[in-house]
Amino acid sequence: MKKYWLVGNWKMHGSLASNATLLNAIRERQPALSPYVDMVLCPAFPYIAQMASLVEGTGIQLGAQNASDHLQGAYTGETSPRMLKELGCGYVIIGHSERRIYQGENDGLMGRKALAAIDAGLIPIICVGETAEERDKSRTHEVLARQLDAAFGYIRTAHDQVIIAYEPIWAIGTGIAATPEIVQTEHAFLRSRVAQRDPSFAARMPIIYGGSVKPGNAASLFSMPDVDGGLIGSAALNAEDFVAIYQSLV
Ligand code: G3H
Repeated sequence: MKKYWLVGNWKMHGSLASNATLLNAIRERQPALSPYVDMVLCPAFPYIAQMASLVEGTGIQLGAQNASDHLQGAYTGETSPRMLKELGCGYVIIGHSERRIYQGENDGLMGRKALAAIDAGLIPIICVGETAEERDKSRTHEVLARQLDAAFGYIRTAHDQVIIAYEPIWAIGTGIAATPEIVQTEHAFLRSRVAQRDPSFAARMPIIYGGSVKPGNAASLFSMPDVDGGLIGSAALNAEDFVAIYQSLV
């Protein structure tokens, strides 16, 4: 059976109390996880330790929303991917468009962060995606290729493991998801681009979709052959919606 990843990005939401409530609600609705669908929750940094203890023994995995491109050193305010690994994270989101837009992160930094994450033993979830203007100007593939190539300048396909998240910026938080056909086209493009470097790596590389995934559109998006799961924002903050999306993969 095909394997899927469902990643909940909680962004800058939550509190000690609401995190526990949300996790309990998810677990009540989905007490047992499928071996074919990995559920990964990405809380804000201050709650990583809390969530690590709450998910212990549940099968739910933990990810962070960002990490430094360094493993340690004089980098005030930064968080090492090695620290995240020590706290129980298995994954880290790299290059989310909100970090590119609000924190000025660029393609080169994304590549270095992906490498540091891998070196710390984490699986980077590398986000790529075009703006509405870039799509309108038929520049989507140029943008995706540039973002992907920057990351793959650092990744050693012989042994590294990564997940690519296709997140068109115009679909994030807008309620307007990309159509399944658009998602399939862009995922196939991303896979073919990586195949130029290493065909067997590209064939096994998970590509997940993010951008206004909801219970109502999840099944059609996930039915596309090159879609290996989802990166969920707002619907991940609602247990009923998140579990409904999970169940569309099972
Ligand atoms: O990381 C998640 C994405 O930014 C999608 O967010 O589901 O609220 O559109 P959204």
